[in-house]
Amino acid sequence: MPAELVCFEAACRARFAITELIYSCPRCGGLLEVAYSGPFLPPETLRQLWRSRRLNNAPLDQSGVWRYREMVAFLEDYSAVVSLGEGNTPLIEAPRAAAWAGLERLSFKHQGYNPTGSFKDNGMTCGVAQALRLGMRRVACVSTGNTSASMAAYASAAGLQAIVFIPHGNISYGKLAQALEYGALTLQVEANFDQILALVRTLAERLGIYLLNSINPFRIEGQKTIIVELMEQRDWDPPDWIVLPGGNLGNTAAFGKALREMLERGLIRRLPRLAVIQAEGAAPFYELARRGAGALEPVRAPETLATAIRIGDPVSWPKALYEVRVTGGVVEKVSEQEIADAKAIIGRCGIGCEPASAATLAGIRKLRAAGIIRAGEDVVAVLTGNLLKDPDYIYKYHTRSLQTPGGELLSSTYANQPVVVPNDPDRIAEILG
Ligand code: F0G
Repeated sequence: MPAELVCFEAACRARFAITELIYSCPRCGGLLEVAYSGPFLPPETLRQLWRSRRLNNAPLDQSGVWRYREMVAFLEDYSAVVSLGEGNTPLIEAPRAAAWAGLERLSFKHQGYNPTGSFKDNGMTCGVAQALRLGMRRVACVSTGNTSASMAAYASAAGLQAIVFIPHGNISYGKLAQALEYGALTLQVEANFDQILALVRTLAERLGIYLLNSINPFRIEGQKTIIVELMEQRDWDPPDWIVLPGGNLGNTAAFGKALREMLERGLIRRLPRLAVIQAEGAAPFYELARRGAGALEPVRAPETLATAIRIGDPVSWPKALYEVRVTGGVVEKVSEQEIADAKAIIGRCGIGCEPASAATLAGIRKLRAAGIIRAGEDVVAVLTGNLLKDPDYIYKYHTRSLQTPGGELLSSTYANQPVVVPNDPDRIAEILG
């Protein structure tokens, strides 16, 4: 199945070899995507093949990305692929969260169960495979923390040097700790995500370092498998809605591409609608969708406690806008208070997630109240990161000291405060009733 790089701009559609070292279209500057020209196996053959691979112990077949390699068929040779057991994440019913949001049913596809605790691993195994194929020795990214954790892990496992650029003081310690522990050269830059991305793009070109931000189309390919796996878990019955948080918008691009390709290949019969949720203080894509025309206007100083999505100038917006439109989707924004309470509810389900992921449930509740999502509709929310990524946020919420970036105290509506007790059985028995 031959693969090529194709410019995403409808007016350009220039084509390039899959091994070309480019991150945007040399002709028009547009985003690039991987395109396959077939022939494709029939859907029933693919479904059986993917199911049978679950019984095979080969790492490639056990990977929740490479098991579906017919959907990410850009390599000729899989011998250099590094898998850490990515994907294979659960789809969990959450009745309590459903009731809170006003739905009859809701399930979470939890990407926080990945090896480094976020959905980035699905894309990173592909991005690193392409880096190896191109003979690159060093890889780099700017990150709000999860991309850097994932890249550091996969690069080290592959014997590549990882260089991560992070906004100084604005990523959680859990994520910073991962980059350090996995052995990445870690540069804390005194600038925000958007400013550092421009810097890293220049440096990557000048120094011959392979760029692994989600502008890299091979990362997007890997993230498609989140949706393939989801559909397999649902026996190929698409939900009405797939809800996800939006930051740099790579995941929105990946989910839309996966859905379109699955529809084209007969794996699903209809497209679910995408609902992209942004944090109020970093919502340029929401504003663009509301205006309905023109180009994205960056937010110069994005602010949110959900630091993973603290991004004002998302690179993948043209792809994301296209995918939202094709699926009849919507874009919503939610407040810090709504995110914090939604997150506590996800915790009470025994599931848990990091703040950015909880924007999904907050958004569902809001879209439900507005009548855009109906009570009986079938909704899947994608939880993008693990609860332990940002314990500081959780401790502050439950001890009633969580403040917005502007310094306003949030209400800890569902606080569960720890209780300090003396070493005294009578006193403790009294407290326990
Ligand atoms: N949720 C989490 C936990 C994330 O880490 C990110 C992005 C998103 C949602 C948004 O996804 O960018 O594809 O729209 N984190 C990036 C990073 C930017 O550097 O780790 P997106």
